[in-house]
Amino acid sequence: MDFLDYIESRRQENLNELKDFLRIPSVSTKNEHKPDIDRAARWVADRLRGAGLPTVDIIPTKMHPLVLAESMEAPGKPTILFYGHYDVQPAEPLNLWTSPPFDPTVRDGNLYGRGTADDKGQVHIHLKALEALKKSEGKLPLNVKVIIEGEEEVGSVNLWDFVIGNKGRLKADALVVSDTAMLAHGVPSITYGLRGLNYYQVEIIGPAVDLHSGAFGGAVPNPITILAELIAKLHDKNFHVTVPGFYDDVAPLSAKERKALNSLPWKESEFRKTVGAPGLCGEKGFTNVERLWCRPTLELNGIWGGYTDEGSKTVIPSKAFAKISTRLVPNQNPAKIAKQVERYIRSLLPKTVHCKFEVLSTSKPWVAPYTHPIFQKAIHSLEKGFGTKAVFIREGGSIPFVTQMHDTFKVPCVLLGFGLPDENAHAPDEHISLENYFGGIKSVASFYSALAQP
Ligand code: BES
Ligand code: MN
Ligand code: MN
Repeated sequence: MDFLDYIESRRQENLNELKDFLRIPSVSTKNEHKPDIDRAARWVADRLRGAGLPTVDIIPTKMHPLVLAESMEAPGKPTILFYGHYDVQPAEPLNLWTSPPFDPTVRDGNLYGRGTADDKGQVHIHLKALEALKKSEGKLPLNVKVIIEGEEEVGSVNLWDFVIGNKGRLKADALVVSDTAMLAHGVPSITYGLRGLNYYQVEIIGPAVDLHSGAFGGAVPNPITILAELIAKLHDKNFHVTVPGFYDDVAPLSAKERKALNSLPWKESEFRKTVGAPGLCGEKGFTNVERLWCRPTLELNGIWGGYTDEGSKTVIPSKAFAKISTRLVPNQNPAKIAKQVERYIRSLLPKTVHCKFEVLSTSKPWVAPYTHPIFQKAIHSLEKGFGTKAVFIREGGSIPFVTQMHDTFKVPCVLLGFGLPDENAHAPDEHISLENYFGGIKSVASFYSALAQP
């Protein structure tokens, strides 16, 4: 049986196995899920062994374990490194899920559950593609290294140390990643650019303790008001970020790239539907595609302080907090941007409060040419799985490892995304289209098989 028939014959088994993976609530940001994280790492290791990779290791880090595997049984053939993550974002708010986040359920041609698209479902696509090649051909046609981490959703904090200390184990001719989305349904896509990310937490500290707002209000600083004023100053009315120097190092888009990106079949009507807000807004002077993929941003991710429970409580809080992030594009330097943001925020604050400014994680932007012949093989393989020609896109999200690998080894990075823009990644009702899941397995197996051909 050839590998495509093998894949076709295993549809139900593969789907059931993916559901087992998704039932493990491997939420990396919460300590209470540590046992689930460890269980997910063991699950991945077992499946890699099942796919026929002879060497599989679970490597502890300061936080969550890495799963590393290797199959080097194809002398003279290229070596690829596949990267993915088994950790997921928290599922809250739980009441907004149609079916429970860790009880994967098929509805309307989609599989719903936390991690279906980001990234367990996409990792599973590769596990099943490798297994199909091994089972139908007796051995893998190329050399494969695999690294699946458990800290992506918290910024891949400990991964960099591992990369630096283990270059030999990771060295490959190309990096393959499936942790992105297609441009639209039925449009297979190869991503050649990602934004970087700096994530900050700001704490505004006023009174030493919470105060009665009647007894004290009017004569003391209110950290929430001061934080709100601060936040309001971070953009101007044209949605430019006001941090001095923020745009200094932004590489201009070439006319050619601008034209290519703006000619893609990206539909504003679809985007509006997915967003579901009464209107859109964004930086003046740029198209939506440019705003999403090629322009840096500053976003508020959370804000809290004072009394937020039922009913009223008259209080002036001692503290107010905000989580703020900046998406970065080439050639912005994350360390330099963090300094600029901190300096600007401190300069805006009155002397009546203190401010604690923390950088929680940072990741460099990435963009790379797609001229290497491997990209032609990727296009052909996606065509085998989806019946249409792939497009080259950039995306707005961040994957720290891609930049780390690209900087370290200068190898082509092939990002084959099987998610969709409306997949609800990081949100309630996350899902993956079954068509993309099954088409993904066929495409990836075809890709690995094609890489073994001269
Ligand atoms: N899979 C995403 C990255 C992504 C999202 C790529 C959308 C392309 C489009 C990844 O799991 C993710 O969520 N990354 C975080 C960054 C991390 C440092 C916390 C992100 O982009 O917010
Ligand atoms: Mn992801
Ligand atoms: Mn994610």
